[in-house]
Amino acid sequence: MRTSRASVMLLAVAVLAGGAWAQGMQIPKPSPGLMPNPTAGKPLFETHCASCHGTDLKGSDKGPPLIHKIYEPAHHGDVAFQLAARNGTRAHHWQFGDMPPVPGVSADDVAHITAYVRMHQRRAGIR
Ligand code: HEC
Repeated sequence: MRTSRASVMLLAVAVLAGGAWAQGMQIPKPSPGLMPNPTAGKPLFETHCASCHGTDLKGSDKGPPLIHKIYEPAHHGDVAFQLAARNGTRAHHWQFGDMPPVPGVSADDVAHITAYVRMHQRRAGIR
């Protein structure tokens, strides 16, 4: 089962990357050697994401919880976070409307934010 799950994930990443490429989107890439750090991610998340995804990552009336099985790494990999922050995302899982692009966050910022979200997902048993 692990193998098939891993290949599904690889496929998903390939499809996502291919789709982004086809639309002329760049996948923002963190600096080489960056160590994503949840402690650095926390204030960045609170500034840029919490207004919709909730200070506790459990969502608000404007956006979904990120501590949710849908956002586990196998379904929404780290690339999904980079793309969502850069380009926004169409409403497809929820009824909150589209997520607009988030201006003013770098790829490095998003990598730290993602580490922060992953830490809380793991604590909630989502991995
Ligand atoms: C203005 C509100 C808003 C802000 C600010 C916001 N989001 Fe979102 N986000 C949403 C909504 C709404 C969705 C759900 C779209 C859907 O229905 O699937 C979403 C979905 C996502 C997804 C899933 C994308 C996908 O591929 O399905 C990720 C990852 C995400 N947000 C990360 C972030 C991060 C990281 C930040 C901060 C840098 C952020 N969001 C800021 C509203 C917001």
